[in-house]
Amino acid sequence: MISRRRFIQVGLALIALPKQMVLASRRLFKNRFQVPMLETGKRIDKDVYFDLNIQSGQSAILPNQLTPTLGINQPFLGVTLRASKGDRVHIKVKNSLDETTTLHWHGMKLPAKADGGPHHPIVPSGTWLSEFDIIQDAATLWYHSHQIHQTGRQVYQGLAGLFIVDDESAKTLNLPMEYGVDDIPVIIQDRDFKKNGAFAYILSMPDRMMGKKGQTVLVNGVINPVLRAKKSLLRLRLLNGSNARTYHLSFDDHRAFYIIGSDGGLLEHSVKVNSLRLAPAERVEILLDVTDGEILTLKHNASQTSSGMGMGMGMMSRIMNQNKELVIFQIDATGVQKSNRSIPNQLTTHQLIPMSAVSNERLITLQMRMGPMMMFDGDVFSINGKTMDMNRIDEVVKAGSVEIWTIENHSMMAHPFHIHNVQFKIISRSGGVQGHELGYKDVVLVHPDEQVKVLIKFPEFSDTKTPYMYHCHILEHEDRGMMGQFLVVKST
Ligand code: C2O
Ligand code: CU
Ligand code: CU
Repeated sequence: MISRRRFIQVGLALIALPKQMVLASRRLFKNRFQVPMLETGKRIDKDVYFDLNIQSGQSAILPNQLTPTLGINQPFLGVTLRASKGDRVHIKVKNSLDETTTLHWHGMKLPAKADGGPHHPIVPSGTWLSEFDIIQDAATLWYHSHQIHQTGRQVYQGLAGLFIVDDESAKTLNLPMEYGVDDIPVIIQDRDFKKNGAFAYILSMPDRMMGKKGQTVLVNGVINPVLRAKKSLLRLRLLNGSNARTYHLSFDDHRAFYIIGSDGGLLEHSVKVNSLRLAPAERVEILLDVTDGEILTLKHNASQTSSGMGMGMGMMSRIMNQNKELVIFQIDATGVQKSNRSIPNQLTTHQLIPMSAVSNERLITLQMRMGPMMMFDGDVFSINGKTMDMNRIDEVVKAGSVEIWTIENHSMMAHPFHIHNVQFKIISRSGGVQGHELGYKDVVLVHPDEQVKVLIKFPEFSDTKTPYMYHCHILEHEDRGMMGQFLVVKST
């Protein structure tokens, strides 16, 4: 029952403060937004020393239940590593798990020996030292397990974190840059849980075919949290850290935002959009103006997803009830303070590579072989007809050279194709190159029957023995063989 006095109050409020009433009527998410701890290492001039410990733990993700998790320097997920262009990083990684694992620096240009791919396993109680110079511009990179055949499960349990690279010129842009205050990491992952609270990394037939998708979305390890924004201009560093799901992201009020960065760093110009597509392993940096003090929700609208699939898969996924809307997280901007940061139009300039510099072209075909009734087993996932073999080198590239790789998808579903040690430019794809795909990329989503051409300038690092990987970043596909190896050598 509502008292007479309360009734009058409410009535007055309705007349005087309609906006506040509307806001109050919106259900606020309950979970608090977590910002991953920042780790900047121990610095001696340009040398930066990181001490990482891969550990297991228990995390309170669900109400009243603990979930066994894996993490780096914390129980679940990794701390955010941060260093600058021009630094030399020395990362000591200790494996405190009772299983072998690795840590790969995704998006980093670095010597093959330091890459942390399947050739750098760290046995239980073992340590691995990765040392390299940061030669690339400011970017939101990440790191994760790359253990052969186990990447999907280990990342699902938590072996993933962000690696932020800074540089001097990005600092002059007046972008939001206070970590956790107006520069916010947003790691998006989908998970399923067992009744006992444990992650359910159980691969059903469709999971093995299409990759593991969960029905619950975590942001920085928290289910659908609410971020209480402090500043009226926010920079969000979004990472799709999911094993297989591609997100189609927009805010519930369809407000515009500005894309300023892609996998490899800042775009040349900011791009105003209302939505964006983020495939597994992709990162995007956006600027979001919340001066209006609203409460908004970032959502995934899967109705656009079917466009990325062939007829069969689209139908399949509708049957599996995979196509629906998911909420990601909420931003409560009711208490914001005016930001003195701005939305620059011009951000940086990218070095133009003339086509005359191209010295080689390669064709990469992505394949999934399926038997009758969509049943499969054995070597279903392949690249150029071959399933991953750690003892086979698939391609040999000349250090410092420029190449065009054409990636063709000969299967019924989209694959996010990733190449280690490089940041490429997409030079052609069906529908044209737009949004964050205008920037430097290390992953590109390739749709069924699509042909995507990328222009790659390989760094000068060379190694006649240790290969880098290229693979589909749907981790279940990678684990089952949709991966190949390339060497970068001085002369070919
Ligand atoms: Cu995200 Cu081979 O890596
Ligand atoms: Cu990688
Ligand atoms: Cu794939």
